Amino acid sequence: MNNKFLQEELNSLKETNNFRVLKECNSSLINFSSNDYLGLANDKELLNEFYSNYHCKLSSSSSRLIDGSYPEVMELERELEKIYNRAGIVFNSGFDANSSIIETFYNKDTLIISDRLNHASIYDGIVNSGAKLLRYKHLDMENLENLLIKYRDKYEDILVVTETVYSMDGDVADIKKLVELKRKYNFDLMVDEAHSYGVNGYGIAYENNLVQDIDFLVIPLGKGGGSVGSYLLCSQLCKDYIINKNRKFIFTTALPPVNNCWNLFILKKMPEFLEKRERLQELIRYFLSLLKENSIETSSTTHIVSIIIGDNRKIIKIAENLKNKGFLVYGVKEPTVPKGSARFRIGLNPNFSKEDLERFVKELKYEIDSVL
Ligand SMILES: Cc1ncc(COP(=O)(O)O)c(C=O)c1O
Repeated sequence: MNNKFLQEELNSLKETNNFRVLKECNSSLINFSSNDYLGLANDKELLNEFYSNYHCKLSSSSSRLIDGSYPEVMELERELEKIYNRAGIVFNSGFDANSSIIETFYNKDTLIISDRLNHASIYDGIVNSGAKLLRYKHLDMENLENLLIKYRDKYEDILVVTETVYSMDGDVADIKKLVELKRKYNFDLMVDEAHSYGVNGYGIAYENNLVQDIDFLVIPLGKGGGSVGSYLLCSQLCKDYIINKNRKFIFTTALPPVNNCWNLFILKKMPEFLEKRERLQELIRYFLSLLKENSIETSSTTHIVSIIIGDNRKIIKIAENLKNKGFLVYGVKEPTVPKGSARFRIGLNPNFSKEDLERFVKELKYEIDSVL
């Protein structure tokens, strides 16, 4: 290890206001940066109901192929298969699922065409697979189709990867169109529903009856799912192959029973959260109208609202000032988002009051206009 090199790299992050530190979160602030989009992780009534019905162990003490396939995770997978009518398998995280699916099924002979704003876990999988990578312009189906036309004869094996709702932009991929293109050009399709599970019930693919058309449907649970881990829906053949060949599935301790009991509890209750989902949609409309009234620009259309500030130093100062006024909102900077597009990435949930939103937008407007 070259300590001098490490120190120089960190110094250069400090010089560009891009040095990260861990800060203990302050629960007295109104949190505009949470991913708990349905408020499930913090719902006291729901937690009480869960704890009075489930008494689960806190460690699985083993991998899935040894003792880690305890009855509750097997029941969870059976329930997934019943709901989605597809083979279902639980991974320890969305990161593991995305990266290891790509590593396991694709190789140097594959062409992977990925939305350029896809998550780091997808890009890690692509790099580790050794596949040829092409990136299409964010959400641009015409650009994707042109790449398919140009390259389809050069590769037998093509994978296209998309998310549904995009984490840093709050916009939505047209997965109906992607399925249409898949039928026309015959590629494998992988879809990540990290930011739509819960907000869209069982997900956008499920809502649109497209689950059978998607080769790998990944559902990370740490956001609207109010939990941890991730589901994969795929063919039985791919599930069997994962159990035998996927290193991040095989060589790791399974999630503790308590997490998968909670996942099962939430999965079964999903239809009961309709009121929360409707309330969230009402708040999204209200929040977007407040931004418009205050001439604060966003291209987001969902529960994730992205407000680009641009400059790292300015965003840090605005976040600090808002914190002093009782609002928690983190600035997102490169490399998470492209250089020069530092932004507030606001996560709405049904527990906000309209007054919270009004006060926040008023203060945000003031800070944007006054911090230079
Ligand atoms: C789109 C997307 N996919 C995957 C992940 C990773 O999921 P997990 O946090 O479960 O590892 C995230 C979250 O950070 C994400 O935003």
